[in-house]
Amino acid sequence: MPLESGKTHDWLVAVTDSLTPLFSPFNLKSLSLRNRFAMAPMTREMSPGGIPTSENAEHYRMRVEGGAALIITEGAYIDDEAASGPRADVPRLTEHAADGWRGVVNAVHDAGGSIVPQLWHVGALRGASPPLNPGVPALSPSGLDLDAGPLGEPMTTQQIDQVITSFADAAALAQRIGFDGVELHGAHGYLLDEFLWKRTNTRDGRYGTRVQMPLEVVQAVRSAVGENFAVIFRFSQWKASRYTERIATTPTELEKLLVPLGDAGVDAFHASTRRHWHPEFPDDDAVLSLAGWTKRLTGRSVITVGSVGVQTEFRGAGAAAPKNPLVIRESVEDRLDYLAEQFRAGEFDVVAVGRALVADPAWVAKVRAGHLDQVVPFDRTQHSLSGA
Ligand SMILES: Cc1cc2nc3c(=O)[nH]c(=O)nc-3n(C[C@H](O)[C@H](O)[C@H](O)COP(=O)(O)O)c2cc1C
Repeated sequence: MPLESGKTHDWLVAVTDSLTPLFSPFNLKSLSLRNRFAMAPMTREMSPGGIPTSENAEHYRMRVEGGAALIITEGAYIDDEAASGPRADVPRLTEHAADGWRGVVNAVHDAGGSIVPQLWHVGALRGASPPLNPGVPALSPSGLDLDAGPLGEPMTTQQIDQVITSFADAAALAQRIGFDGVELHGAHGYLLDEFLWKRTNTRDGRYGTRVQMPLEVVQAVRSAVGENFAVIFRFSQWKASRYTERIATTPTELEKLLVPLGDAGVDAFHASTRRHWHPEFPDDDAVLSLAGWTKRLTGRSVITVGSVGVQTEFRGAGAAAPKNPLVIRESVEDRLDYLAEQFRAGEFDVVAVGRALVADPAWVAKVRAGHLDQVVPFDRTQHSLSGA
């Protein structure tokens, strides 16, 4: 990646030096990371019949050899017939796929990395007429899609119990396979997020308390894997193709969702944003990111993410510019410099990197060596963005 005009190599060296603290180890229960860089979960549709192959193992091994300490796998469907979207080649975390996953886990461990699977139920995003298992209707909290249009029936308590059990079974299976922890996909408008969001959760009673169902998933997962297995919960304000939607418009509202999840057994929150430098509640704090708020409110470990190492934010334009001009970050290097500042300020513990690692498996190693100018830049015309 050529340096922008006006930026000197001395300046570049200063940026990479500022990132040195991110190369310190991080330990969280069963997770032992050699540095603070994780690969963000990214759907690939490369697992025929839902079973990962040696190609998947190689894909992740290369990122670990290229310096990433932790792989958070692409979303893997839990064992529920309504968990899947339209894609047959998305991996599943089921007994049927266990041997495939063992190959992936072994490859990552052999290369010196750690790996957690992302456990996924698509909920309403299965749609009204899903091509995969067409006879199986979508599950959602209130029989509503993400635009609050009708989509079948609200989940029964029996269906909720079943899904909770499926998450717990998937986590226990992940532990048996040899993964180092699990991440629950509670973001982007999928099932757990639909319970967290006012628009899609209009239920009365027990599960009308928005956090209740995800909280019971966390409790069931914790009880299935024991105290020492790291449980990460990914959440987001934004929803699939709806980038300005939010589950919490104030810190107090966010606190009411996150603190009970932490109490239920979440060890780390993965605050999914499209721009890590974006201040989340600028009226309350001019600079604090969603990750920073999450840490401040919960005291748990936090993973940040969003346009690290890439020139454009995830899925391009659409969101309003930050109010505070000091945090409009113009170049990859400016943003890395600010990432280091956020780390020094204690806003996060681990940073997840998505598209930059798709484009260049050795991105982390190149950053560490001060070779930012040798990074293969992400190019959206060459890399699929059909993500979850
Ligand atoms: C191709 C692609 C697939 C994705 N799949 C998932 C997924 O399976 N689960 C998930 O939580 N996020 C998914 N995401 C979002 C990424 O994890 C990440 O949050 C996003 O790309 C922003 O990070 P980046 O700017 O470093 O790419 C996907 C993103 C992309 C580009």
